[in-house]
Amino acid sequence: MKQQTLGFIGAGNMASSLIAGLLADAYPPANIWASDVEGDKLRHLANHFGIQTTSDNRQVVEHAQILVLAVKPQMLKEVAGGIADSVQKHKPLIISLAAGVLEADIDQWLGGGIDIVRCMPNTPALVKTGATAMHGVASLSSEQRSRAEAVLRAVGLTVWVDSEELLDVVTALSGSGPAYFFLFMEAMEEAAVALGLNAETARLLTQQTALGSARLAMESEESPAELRRRVTSPGGTTEKAIGVFEASGLRNLISEAMTAARQRAGELAKQWGNV
Ligand SMILES: NC(=O)c1ccc[n+]([C@@H]2O[C@H](COP(=O)([O-])OP(=O)(O)OC[C@H]3O[C@@H](n4cnc5c(N)ncnc54)[C@H](OP(=O)(O)O)[C@@H]3O)[C@@H](O)[C@H]2O)c1
Repeated sequence: MKQQTLGFIGAGNMASSLIAGLLADAYPPANIWASDVEGDKLRHLANHFGIQTTSDNRQVVEHAQILVLAVKPQMLKEVAGGIADSVQKHKPLIISLAAGVLEADIDQWLGGGIDIVRCMPNTPALVKTGATAMHGVASLSSEQRSRAEAVLRAVGLTVWVDSEELLDVVTALSGSGPAYFFLFMEAMEEAAVALGLNAETARLLTQQTALGSARLAMESEESPAELRRRVTSPGGTTEKAIGVFEASGLRNLISEAMTAARQRAGELAKQWGNV
């Protein structure tokens, strides 16, 4: 895999995180190319990481055996149109990070017959604890799947989903999920301050509690329900708080919120496909 030349079109947050993760895994910088419209981003990547950079997207395609499309979804049609002839000539494996853009649309924009893996990463990829769900077109070989997975694994966990529509569910879960946890953290901090704790202490305790709970859930064999039960003594403080959450319909609220997010992901896919 490290002998393969990787190309990134769009050198923003997600591409930079992936490049940093790959280099930390000893991927040779000489085998990574990136292009962007912003010279500053390219200069930073070249100086900081020693990778190959260019402002010409087609030059990246010429070098890449694996091509990562890392521009915003609304830019993808135009970008794909600009590289389609070069992609048809070189036939790299395409990895699209663009949220909500369908494989069929990307295939059409790139001229057809393309091997595409569509991914839904999330922002914790910026700190190498991302969660990425992947789906590939039917023609993909298991070797191509492994190659695509190795790229995304550089920034965290990867899973495959069986149908492309399930990426909308993933968007509602892990794609938007960090914001749900941030909202919860925000609300806990505010409540602690209202109850008298100073802001700095409230933030520190909230952050460490979130981190510790996530690690405990990941390292334990038990389900979250069982872990919760264990910290909920009958008649105690946690039971009182959980009772308030349950009585206010928190579970239904979460279900409604995620259903709304999934629906929006479907709407955006139609919108990006028609740009
Ligand atoms: N960040 C996340 O957590 C996350 C999560 C899930 C999915 N994604 C997906 O990952 C993709 C990248 O997201 P991001 O957060 O890395 O976005 P980003 O920081 O905006 O990076 C995209 C880069 O592409 C550049 N660009 C725009 N037009 C271009 C063109 N014609 N040719 C070459 N480069 C061009 C942009 O330059 P300008 O800034 O000048 O436009 C920008 O530097 C998106 O499709 C997003 O849906 C991101």
